[in-house]
Amino acid sequence: MEDLIFLGIESSCDDTAAAIVTGEGRILSSVVAGQTEMHADFGGVVPEIAARAHTERLDHCVEQALQEARLGLSDLSAVAVTAGPGLIGGVMAGVMTAKGIAAGAGLPLVGVNHLAGHALTPRLTDGIGFPYLMLLVSGGHCQFLRVDGPQEFHRLGGTIDDAPGEAFDKLAKLLALPQPGGPSVEAEARLGDGDRFDLPRPLLDRPGCDMSFSGLKTAALRLRDRLIAEQGGLRQADRQDLCAAFQSAMAGILAEKSRRALAASPVPALAVAGGVAANQTIRAALQQVAAEAGATFLAPPLRLCTDNAAMIAWAGIERYREGARDGMDLAARPRWPL
Ligand code: KG4
Ligand code: ZN
Repeated sequence: MEDLIFLGIESSCDDTAAAIVTGEGRILSSVVAGQTEMHADFGGVVPEIAARAHTERLDHCVEQALQEARLGLSDLSAVAVTAGPGLIGGVMAGVMTAKGIAAGAGLPLVGVNHLAGHALTPRLTDGIGFPYLMLLVSGGHCQFLRVDGPQEFHRLGGTIDDAPGEAFDKLAKLLALPQPGGPSVEAEARLGDGDRFDLPRPLLDRPGCDMSFSGLKTAALRLRDRLIAEQGGLRQADRQDLCAAFQSAMAGILAEKSRRALAASPVPALAVAGGVAANQTIRAALQQVAAEAGATFLAPPLRLCTDNAAMIAWAGIERYREGARDGMDLAARPRWPL
């Protein structure tokens, strides 16, 4: 008999997700319904569209998660839900669904910080102990966290402007590549020559772990416009070489700042999470930095790097074990720093 069985619910951005996870870290089911195509024409996530889609899909995702795990509500120990940070409409939809289930089935409710969900994922996937360093790199976030406990996070630095995923998405838009931009840019970069163009690596000349990506994006825009002016258009090779240079600068910035974070906070492991952690060049660069520092490198499988509810169920389990319980007054918080 498992000790704990949690239902996790996530709806803070553009993925509606539900999952069932046990106290031993077994993922019995993890359902994710994405909305990429719904927002495709708008060049970004439209909060109203996202909120409506979450409201329509949450019940079905929960049912499917239970069905795949072959469990009923009466088998659950508690419900964990993302209570922020994120788009308020989506977070509210998830919190209301979780409250309904908890009240209806007489289960405890645990509110989870979405970022804590990402940050605790290496404990779910690899069972690592505290402390460790987490580089969270997604479409909305970019920060170094030293994770000292289930509810103890110390921010060592982060982006002062764009998030890396956002920068990848904007570059893809500049080059008329499909969204989400990260995978498109990576695919183009694979065929390109990263040495043809030299893009800036902002803030590397300054100490500390803060990062900046908007200058990189602006430099890519200028380069694109120069090529168009000189040649009358962009050739396939230009696009590929620009993507390769951009990805290489991105990997260079993240690697150098990780090196500094590990030097400032020598811990046994460096972990990554967030959609950008899917990038193979970035992963390889970080792996090398970890190896140089004598630290283990942990990159969760992609489906657990991007937004999902298994990480929320797991973070809920970790909080619950520390005695955390929330009431029916649990609030949705659009802003909620760790
Ligand atoms: O974590 P995530 O699924 O959602 C949040 O932002 O919370 O991350 C999505 C971001 C998008 O900006 C996407 O372009 C980026 O992750 N991404 C990538 C790759 N795959 C996804 N960026 C670079 N390389 C990739 N292979
Ligand atoms: Zn996320």
